[in-house]
Amino acid sequence: MKVVSVVGARPQFVKLAPVAAALTARGHEHVIVHTGQHYDAGMSEVFFADLRIPAPTVNLAVGSAGHATQTGRMLEALEPVLVQAAPDWVLVYGDTNSTLAAAVAAVKVHLPLAHLESGLRSFDRAMPEEHNRVMTDHAADLCLAPTDLAMRNLATEGLAARSRLVGDVMVDVCLAVAATAAGRSPLAGTPDEALVAGGDYLLATIHRQENTDDPARLLALLQALAGSPTPVLLLAHPRLVATAAREAIELAQGAVRVHPPQAYPDLVALVVGSRGVVTDSGGLQKEAMLLRTPAVTVRSTTEWTETVELGWNRLAPDADDLAQVLRKGMPQGREGTPYGSGDAAVRAVAALETG
Ligand code: UD1
Repeated sequence: MKVVSVVGARPQFVKLAPVAAALTARGHEHVIVHTGQHYDAGMSEVFFADLRIPAPTVNLAVGSAGHATQTGRMLEALEPVLVQAAPDWVLVYGDTNSTLAAAVAAVKVHLPLAHLESGLRSFDRAMPEEHNRVMTDHAADLCLAPTDLAMRNLATEGLAARSRLVGDVMVDVCLAVAATAAGRSPLAGTPDEALVAGGDYLLATIHRQENTDDPARLLALLQALAGSPTPVLLLAHPRLVATAAREAIELAQGAVRVHPPQAYPDLVALVVGSRGVVTDSGGLQKEAMLLRTPAVTVRSTTEWTETVELGWNRLAPDADDLAQVLRKGMPQGREGTPYGSGDAAVRAVAALETG
């Protein structure tokens, strides 16, 4: 079997790692195509190196642009690559613009399309990711779902016959990395080395368009973080840094200490060592639960509802909610494993083998 994986953004590299290993273990031919959506070394190369993912065969180097331009550039560049590779499956991951572009490119040239992390819904149509996941699921020939709820969402939309429950590949990679992350010293050599060693900190990431593009909202969120009684290590995504610079917003205020995005093993070690996570990332709110760390998610909806139901994750739709949670303390979760036990990549490959 020949599989072309199309990836482009940071969370997709993480999901690719266990899938690439599982495909290789079964002796399949695997071609990795990188759209170039993320291109800084710390947002891309470092993941391939740390997670031992084979280097991409092709990098389309599309870079950053508005949604239409970025997606359109990918679509145009992908078509000849997919036609030439002529795989048994084009495999796409998650919900980014790279996911949607590869899905459309594949079905237009009649190549079988499989979508990993299929069936998630936030039901928030203002999120670009929500359009990307809905359209990709409906284009796909095979929907590889992480949870029972995702399977139900797919059934509701008439996609049950082409859906398979395989579990969540993020569990595979997160738990494997956590098992080796204990010896890491993230942020060593920075002024916050001792803070990390002491463990009395919150870890924060804010990067979503909904939170960064409106300067008034961004400022209010930062002020809420600044007022936290516990120090906050903010791992600043380039989108956040760019908006803050443009709007003359100081990121490092009050309790907030700013650092660049971290390599995946260091991120895992920082989550494990923290008192809690504040994020608007889909992946990180779930990784926090997998690592038994409470989280506050700065959004009004989540596609990972199980994290909220089990009590690990609290939604804070706006800055006042966030300030309140930070004052009162992080949520306390209950045991539960709704995302599988770490064999999702093997099950996904088995589903591709049987169709
Ligand atoms: C994208 C995904 C989002 C995912 C996130 C993970 C879409 C619609 N969004 O959002 O779902 O959670 O990736 O990080 O696909 N930039 C750099 N260097 C880079 C990459 C980006 O400086 O290597 C800057 C550019 O200014 C760019 C901005 O970040 O315009 C946004 O990047 P983009 O890939 O468009 O979206 P993300 O916010 O990263």
